[in-house]
Parts: sequence; C-alpha cells; structure tokens
Amino acid sequence: MNKVALITGATRGIGKQIALTLAKEGYNIVINYREENDEVNTAKGEIEAIGVECLTVKGDVSKFDECESFVKQAIEKFGQIDVLVNNAGITKDMLLMRMNKQDFEQVIDVNLIGTFNVTKNVISYMIKARTGRIINISSIVGINGNSGQTNYSASKAGIIGFTKSLAKEVASRNILVNAVAPGFIQTNMTDVLKEEVKEEIAKNIPLKRMGTAQDVANVVKFLASEDSSYITGQVLQIDGGMGI
Ligand SMILES: NC(=O)c1ccc[n+]([C@@H]2O[C@H](COP(=O)([O-])OP(=O)(O)OC[C@H]3O[C@@H](n4cnc5c(N)ncnc54)[C@H](OP(=O)(O)O)[C@@H]3O)[C@@H](O)[C@H]2O)c1
Repeated sequence: MNKVALITGATRGIGKQIALTLAKEGYNIVINYREENDEVNTAKGEIEAIGVECLTVKGDVSKFDECESFVKQAIEKFGQIDVLVNNAGITKDMLLMRMNKQDFEQVIDVNLIGTFNVTKNVISYMIKARTGRIINISSIVGINGNSGQTNYSASKAGIIGFTKSLAKEVASRNILVNAVAPGFIQTNMTDVLKEEVKEEIAKNIPLKRMGTAQDVANVVKFLASEDSSYITGQVLQIDGGMGI
C-alpha cells in the first residue's frame, strides 16, 4: 500500500516541489490549498501523471476548524497520513517601527499557529498508527533573525521550539519531528525582491547562488525516508552556507 503525504500550501513554490518529489517516491499525495485557482488542478494533474493518487483539500491553516475538516477528508480517502509537511507560510515584511499588530498577528497565525492547527489534527492518527513523520518548514531567519522580519522570524523561531518539544513528546510512539531552515530560495516569495537585491544576496552566499525548491524538496524527501530513521528534533539548514 502506498504511503500518504499531506503537504500544506502545496499548489506552488516549495510545497508543490515537495509534493511532486514525494509523488515520485510513490507516496499518494494530499495537497492543501487556501483559494480555488488554476494552480490547484495543474498541481493535481502533474502529480497524477506520475502515477499516484492526489487529493486536493481546501482550507486556511490559520483556522482550526478548516484544518480539522481537511485532515478528516484525507483520512476518509486514504485511511492514514504517514508524512505531514507544514509548508504553508506568508511574509508581511516591514520594520517594527511601521508594523502594526495585525501584520504581526497574521504572520504568526498562518506560520506558527497554522503549524499547530494542522499537526494537532494529524497527530492522533499518527499516534494510533505508532508511526509518522512531521517535517516543518522553518527558515534561516528563524535562527539568525533579519531586519524587517520580526514577525516572520518570530514565527519561524517558534516553529523550531515547537519541533523540538513535539519531537520529545512523540518519540516513544515512533513519530519523528524535524524542521528544515531554507535560506534564499527562488519562489514567488522571493520574486518580489529587486534583481539587484537578489544578486547582492547571492554574492554573500558561500555557494554563490539562491537555492531552488528542489534543493529543499530533496532534504524533505530524506527526512520522510527510512534513511533518516535515527534523526528527530533537528533543524537542517538548506542555505548554501549562509548560516556558517
Ligand atoms: N522562498 C524562500 O526563500 C523561503 C525561505 C525560507 C523558508 N521558506 C518557507 O517555505 C514555505 C514555502 O514558501 P514558498 O517560498 O514556496 O512561498 P510561496 O510560493 O509564497 O508559497 C506559499 C504557499 O503557502 C500557501 N498559503 C499561504 N497562506 C496559507 C494559509 N493560510 N493556508 C493555506 N495555505 C496558505 C500559499 O497559498 P496561496 O496561493 O493561497 O497564497 C502558497 O501555496 C513557507 O513556509 C516559507 O516561509 C521560504
């Protein structure tokens, strides 16, 4: 029987690449998305073309009830969730001086509380199955901080604390919980930066390039696989050496 992976915010960017990469490993895929659009069906079609099943489930990760509902849909269809990837995330960058409470809360609500909402709804099924992998997408700025990103950095640092604590709670049930901390990855999230800014950033990365969504997906694939069966509570940096 195929294993099942649920990936949040997976119709584009890093989430979509993770979905495609796990599909190639033979996982049936559950794609969570927030808004109905063409990308949802395109992603589903690309995954099914690989030869596995794909269920698309609508839901805003910052809303607990919606997470409860889409996790139930996934269980009704496949009976299990072997791998959960908490990928959905947003930025609302600005200096703290100009940031209002709503800008701070929205980022925390999606990135950190969203991670709680989905994990809380999935964990009981993994505990019953006595197996599971949870992979949370943090960020290098959750470790190092970044000017203009107090909200985002706090959310991503929170994910690291969440990952380590949960890893301790569920290790005895054979559930492994890890995080990845990408550096600058080419997606819509970083496309908003000016070309000169991107070039400047790349110059300061030891590997001299921005990362790709595939760079991140490869590490998630490893953390989902048997090859990482003695790793839990860790944060793997995928940053071309930025964090050195
Ligand atoms: N790109 C980077 O350099 C970088 C670096 C470090 C970490 N990350 C992290 O990697 C993850 C993926 O980022 P990305 O670069 O692929 O960004 P992206 O292209 O902007 O994709 C983000 C995805 O999250 C979804 N999403 C946002 N809010 C949601 C919500 N409330 N409920 C459900 N889905 C929601 C988006 O859906 P919509 O289409 O509805 O907006 C989109 O599919 C994020 O957690 C991000 O913080 C990215």
